[in-house]
Amino acid sequence: MRYRNVHLIYFSPTHTSAKIVYAIAEGMGAISMSESDVTREAPDSEEHIDDELTIIAAPVYGGRVAETAAERLRMFRSTYHAPAVPVVLYGNRDYEDALRELCDLVSEQGFVPVAAAAFIGEHSFSREGMPVAEGRPDESDLEQAAAFGRKIIERLEQVSCVESLSALEVRGHFPYREKSPSTPQAPVTDNDACTRCGYCVEVCPTHAISSRDGDLYSDPELCIKCCACVKECPEGARTFDTPYTAMLHKNFSARREPEVFFSRFNPSRVRSSEAETKQR
Ligand SMILES: Cc1cc2nc3c(=O)[nH]c(=O)nc-3n(C[C@H](O)[C@H](O)[C@H](O)COP(=O)(O)O)c2cc1C
Repeated sequence: MRYRNVHLIYFSPTHTSAKIVYAIAEGMGAISMSESDVTREAPDSEEHIDDELTIIAAPVYGGRVAETAAERLRMFRSTYHAPAVPVVLYGNRDYEDALRELCDLVSEQGFVPVAAAAFIGEHSFSREGMPVAEGRPDESDLEQAAAFGRKIIERLEQVSCVESLSALEVRGHFPYREKSPSTPQAPVTDNDACTRCGYCVEVCPTHAISSRDGDLYSDPELCIKCCACVKECPEGARTFDTPYTAMLHKNFSARREPEVFFSRFNPSRVRSSEAETKQR
C-alpha cells in the first residue's frame, strides 16, 4: 500500500503531541500533508477520512486519553477503513491505558490502527526549579519519531491491504482505569504582571478564560488544567499551583523512552482476504 497524503489529527494544548505527529509524518516522507488541529475547537460537523494514512494524537491525562481530546476525535470517521497511527504523549509518569483507549476509539470510528506509539512530552505541570521531562520531546525523541514514521511506510509497502495485518496489540488494560473524580481548579493571573493582551483567552482549548472588570479570570468548572495559558503567557503572569508538581519532580524524573507498536503481517489473513476478493 502506498499513500500520497498523510493526514494529521491532534489535540495539543502545549504542543508536544503536535511536534511528535509532525516528526512522524516527516519520517514518512509524505508527498503532501493535511491537518485537523482540534486543540482550540471541535469540528463543526462529522468529518470523513477515507483514502489517507492518518496520524491521530492526544495527551494522556490521568492515565487516560484527555477527555476533551476524545470528544473531539470522535468527530472523525473512516467508512472505508483508512489506516491510522494512534499516538499518545505523556509527561514521563505513565500512559497506563491511554494508548489502548485511543486505539479502541479510532477503531470504533472505522479506522484500522496499523501502528501506535507512546512518546514523552514536557509535563504540563513542570515548573522552573521543579522540572518534569523538561524540553521533551527533544532531538532524540524527534529522531525516534521520524524513524517510527519511516518504518510504518516500509511495512505498509509490503502489504496490499490493511486486512492482511493482524489486530494491533499495545500496552494497556480494558476496562480502562477509572477516571479520578473532578477537582475544579484553574491557573490564576498576577494582575500586576498581566498586560491584558488576551493571548491566554486565545490559547485556551475550552474557552475557560474571560475578562471580568478588566481582569482575566479562569472558570475552574471549564478549565481542564492543560496549562497552555501558563506556558504561553508572554509575561509569565499565569501560574498553576498544584502539589502534583513536586510529587512528579521527586518520583518521575528518571528519563523514560518512547514505545512503539506495529501490527504484524498475517499470511493467513492475506489468504482469506484474497479468497473473499475472488468470491465477489
Ligand atoms: C490534567 C493533566 C493530567 C495529566 N496526567 C498525566 C498522566 O497520567 N501521566 C503522565 O505521564 N502525564 C500526564 N500529564 C502530562 C501530559 O500528558 C503531557 O504534558 C503531554 O505532553 C501534554 O501534551 P500536549 O503538549 O500535546 O498538550 C497530565 C497533564 C494534565 C494537564
